[in-house]
Amino acid sequence: MTMIKATNITWHEGHVTRETREKLLNQKGALLWFTGLSGSGKSTIAYTLEHALVQRGHLAYVLDGDNIRHGLNKNLGFSAEDRTENIRRIGEVGKLFVDTGVVTMTSFISPYRADRDGARAIMGEGNFFEIFCDTPIEVCEQRDPKGLYKKARAGQLKGFTGIDDPYEAPLKPEMVIDNSKCTPQEAAVRLIELLEKSGKIPALKG
Ligand code: ADX
Repeated sequence: MTMIKATNITWHEGHVTRETREKLLNQKGALLWFTGLSGSGKSTIAYTLEHALVQRGHLAYVLDGDNIRHGLNKNLGFSAEDRTENIRRIGEVGKLFVDTGVVTMTSFISPYRADRDGARAIMGEGNFFEIFCDTPIEVCEQRDPKGLYKKARAGQLKGFTGIDDPYEAPLKPEMVIDNSKCTPQEAAVRLIELLEKSGKIPALKG
């Protein structure tokens, strides 16, 4: 539970609505919440999708775990408590981004179901898409782009997700992607279809 310390505060409404911003951008705000083990392809797919969307004339942005932990969340580690706070903050930042009308991708392991459900709950119906990068751990470990699985196996890194820390798989994700069976480009095509079908971006004519 987050301790509430902010008191005597008032919510201010602006003069410009989300709908006005969305009209301006010819798209609707959405949050694609990527979850999965380290090395499962979350960030690679999210950045590939961001690029594809921008090439189509849409405004898109990736909030990436490793990057956000360099700034906004640099005071958080990898204890259960800190991971929960990491995800809570990103849920709130994602909500702000969606209100701007931007198609937003978050790329965090987000290992706890309750934390992801919490992010979904604050987003409102139709805004949140849970994308489960269900790449087998053997593949993630073989890729080991940052050498962290090796460190974890050697006992030099404690509490590494999938090795000696839990990962709770989503029960009803909007999409499952096994990145050992498809390229990031193929995954991006599927995600663009999802955005079109959900009315977030218009389908290409012709
Ligand atoms: S989360 O669990 O809180 O969602 P987040 O996605 O922000 O994690 O950060 C994960 C990244 O931090 C990994 O890709 C990896 O590079 C690095 N990392 C460092 N220590 C750990 C750890 N103990 N468990 C998982 N990832 C770690």
